[in-house]
This record gives sequence, C-alpha cells and structure tokens, in this order.
Amino acid sequence: MAQLIGGLATSHIPAIGNAIHKGLQQEPYWKPFFDGYLPVHDWLGRVKPDVAVVFYNDHGLNFFLDKMPTFAVGAAADYSNADEGWGIPTSAPVPGCLDLSWHLIRYLVAKEFDIVTCQEMLVDHACTLPLKLFWPNDAVAPVRIVPIDINTVQFPLPTAKRVYKLGQAVGQAIQSWKSDQRVVVLATGGLSHQLEGERAGFINKPFDLQFMESMVSNPEWATQFSDVELVEKAGTQGVELLMWLAMRGALSTAGAGVRKVHSNYHIPISNTATGLLALETMA
Ligand code: DHB
Ligand code: FE
Repeated sequence: MAQLIGGLATSHIPAIGNAIHKGLQQEPYWKPFFDGYLPVHDWLGRVKPDVAVVFYNDHGLNFFLDKMPTFAVGAAADYSNADEGWGIPTSAPVPGCLDLSWHLIRYLVAKEFDIVTCQEMLVDHACTLPLKLFWPNDAVAPVRIVPIDINTVQFPLPTAKRVYKLGQAVGQAIQSWKSDQRVVVLATGGLSHQLEGERAGFINKPFDLQFMESMVSNPEWATQFSDVELVEKAGTQGVELLMWLAMRGALSTAGAGVRKVHSNYHIPISNTATGLLALETMA
C-alpha cells in the first residue's frame, strides 16, 4: 500500500511569488520568512515523497461565484496555472497523479462525500507558490499532485468538523491505494488575515499560535468553531486555515501518531500572519 509520510502546511500569499521572481529571499523583510523553509527542504530531501495531495482554496481562477463547489478533487493529467492579476509569472504545468485521483474520488464518494470531479483544473497561487517554497530549486516540483479545493470564498463554508472528516477520508484513501508511492499531504492558506473592510490587516497571534500547537497535540481543537467564529478569530481570509485541518485529519488516520519536524511563524507578510508546519507520521 502507499505510505502516508507526513504533512506540510504553509501560507500562500501572492507577494511571495513576486519575491521569488525578483530574488528578494535574502532581503531583511523576506529573510525570516524564507529561512523558515530550510529545515523543510532538509526533511523533503530525506523523505523524498513521490506524490503530494494538496488541500488548497481556489481564489476565483478556476471556480468563480457563479459555480462554487464546497469540495473539488482534481483528476487531470496535469494542472496549468494562469494569470490571476497579481503580477506573478505564470508557472509551468504541474503533473497530476491520475491513479491516486481516481482512487480518492471513488473512495470519497463511497464515504458519502459529494465532491466535484475536475478533469480540467487551473491551479492558482495557493497551489503553485507552496510548491516553489518547498522545492525552490526545481522549475517543476519533483512530485505528482492531486489538488483538492475547499471553498473558503463564498458562504456558506463547510464546517471545520466536516473538513476534518474529509481529511480523515483522504488519509484512509491514501493508505488504501495499491501503490508503492510515498505520499505527503500539503495544506495551503492562513494563518490569520483579512484583506478588506474595517478589519483589513487584522492579525490574531494568540489564536494562530494556539491553532498551530493544536495541530500537533490536539488536532480536533479547531473543529469546535463555526465558520463565523473562525472569521471572527482569524479574519475573512484566515478561514483558509481549514486546509491545515484537512491535512491534519488525513495524518490522524496514520496509526502511530505524528511528530513535529519544524514550525515557523512570522508576522506579517503583506496582510498575513504566515505559518509553516511540518509533521511526520510515526512508523
Ligand atoms: C494575501 C493573502 C492570501 O491568502 C491571498 O490569497 C491573497 C493575498 C495577502 O496577504 O496579501
Ligand atoms: Fe489566500
């Protein structure tokens, strides 16, 4: 069976794409952020995943307000990026993993998740930038991906409880995939941020740190909150932390628990409190 080796969660701010493009990683503003990824590069070099399941939230590139799935799973041979208007250079298509996509889709539908299946899917900065952060030396990340989009754009949002359960089902599916591949689960979004309105620039460090700690030791802690409570605590876009919860749900199904490999928290990049977490499943 396939091996679920761990999970990585990171923020995905478009400005990161511009910083990478302009080579600003060593500038004082960016260094504490980019240096946070160095231990993750070491870990990835050791564990060498073949496939990445990517929980991310599309921001209007693939899905717009007229048609907004709650959960959408990619089933494409590759995933192209396109101009979102942030001025980030468009990145090369990322290869998909069709075999795992269809296994996941069959498994999730059998478990009563009414997902949308996407045989064509554009991926935005939330999918492309984390790949660049985790594999900065590769023009195309050395993994095949299965993107899973979770709506955090248009209300009503899925509940935190439901997202955690989706993650658990994805974790079970990965571990029942007849394959020798090594699978890492990525989560991109958050932490606290709000881009518009009276609370634009809102950041909640105590909440973020408690959330990050819960990811290690008490993974269901955040499932107590409603969507509106999560907006209050983390900001209108901070609800992207639901992706972290999905990733952690997946890891919770890997028998012997998880170990924290590394974390970083840095305020702010653009309007966002940035978080990074690497978790490894224990054999
Ligand atoms: C910012 C953060 C995001 O998560 C996003 O999708 C777009 C912009 C920001 O802080 O600028
Ligand atoms: Fe975002």
